[in-house]
Amino acid sequence: MAVLVTGGAGYIGSHTVVELILAGYDVVIVDNLSNSSRESIERIKTITGKTPEFYHADILDRKALREIFAKTEISCCIHFAGLKAVGESVEKPWEYYHNNILGTLTLVDEMRRHGVKNLIFSSSATVYGDQETMPLTEASPLGTCSNPYGFTKAMQEQILRDIQTADREWNVTLLRYFNPIGAHPSGLIGEDPRGIPNNLLPYITQVAVGRLPHLGLFGDDYDTPDGTCIRDYIHVVDLAIGHLMALRRIEEQTEQSALQSAPQLGVYNLGTGNGYSVLEVIAGFTKATGIEIPWVLKPRRSGDLAVSYANADKAWTELGWEATYDIHQMCAHAWNWQSKNPNGYE
Ligand code: NAD
Ligand code: WQD
Repeated sequence: MAVLVTGGAGYIGSHTVVELILAGYDVVIVDNLSNSSRESIERIKTITGKTPEFYHADILDRKALREIFAKTEISCCIHFAGLKAVGESVEKPWEYYHNNILGTLTLVDEMRRHGVKNLIFSSSATVYGDQETMPLTEASPLGTCSNPYGFTKAMQEQILRDIQTADREWNVTLLRYFNPIGAHPSGLIGEDPRGIPNNLLPYITQVAVGRLPHLGLFGDDYDTPDGTCIRDYIHVVDLAIGHLMALRRIEEQTEQSALQSAPQLGVYNLGTGNGYSVLEVIAGFTKATGIEIPWVLKPRRSGDLAVSYANADKAWTELGWEATYDIHQMCAHAWNWQSKNPNGYE
């Protein structure tokens, strides 16, 4: 039995594939490479000594999915494939709804046709919207998203909840990531955004490596101790291991399912529980690497929340998972990746 990883050539997917292989799983990747490179598959091989089976295919392509399910016995699908750039989603909402929603509907339909009803889904803290009360727990109300990308996550969560309610054979785990950063300690795989990075850490590392002149800091007048926004940054390897733990829980549930009547829907925050401001991240990067990051103050970025951080106790209690890397290790590993690969996978 193999684990199907959609979007497995991407940033979080490739790190998860590494952890799955190291834990002894057979992995099949399906990725259309719209935001990733085949080179990441080669690097996975270098790290693990094993080549995951790779299909260059789109999850909207039923025929391709059918061939994969027909060829391989799949036990569970970890579903990362999706478009994820917030700003782009405002400009291209149709593309985001089409790819993310139809992609998930097509995947889930082919899964059930082939009797595969175990799914782990990449959700996001964005589904909480703008909340007054921190930290965010899984019981926090779901809010109004500030962009089409966020709505696709909220809608996909709802679709998967409804499917699980209608058919209790499904085991569905929704993992709500906070702010994934960092890279594999080997420096062989990491985040390789196309064009100018939207997110803070890739922007900082590209300034550090000389690809960009300075960081624009989006607002210093928020209601936070230093006026800059606070986020819960989480090391991508910790995040990857969260998927492994979620997979193990699903396996236990599948074994016990005959005895259980409780619905098998799990929702977990994956964060560290610690919030860092933008200025603290810049200082943390300098402390970890010795490199000063020049920055200039810019106006607030539309849609940014002042503060967002997790309570991740549920993931600890139910999955036995907790984050292990601190902000300095996250920055050091991000820099290790960027300095060894100044132009990403190119
Ligand atoms: P990524 O872009 O690096 O990875 C996504 C992968 O999916 C890419 O390799 C892309 O080529 C592939 N893909 C996209 N559409 C596809 C399709 N129709 N068929 C096949 N492959 C397709 O992004 P990531 O940062 O690794 O994110 C993975 C998942 O986690 C996404 O669903 C994203 O929304 C979610 N997420 C990411 C973050 C973050 O900050 N990185 C935070 C919360 C949630
Ligand atoms: C972090 C902080 C910026 C860039 C986004 C998505 C979210 C999730 C994770 C997928 C903010 C500031 C940033 C820059 C800056 N993705 N910043 N200059 O916005 O918390 O979350 O990625 O699900 O849905 O919205 O992360 O890294 O973009 O920003 O000052 O050039 O850094 O204003 O305060 P964000 P981010």
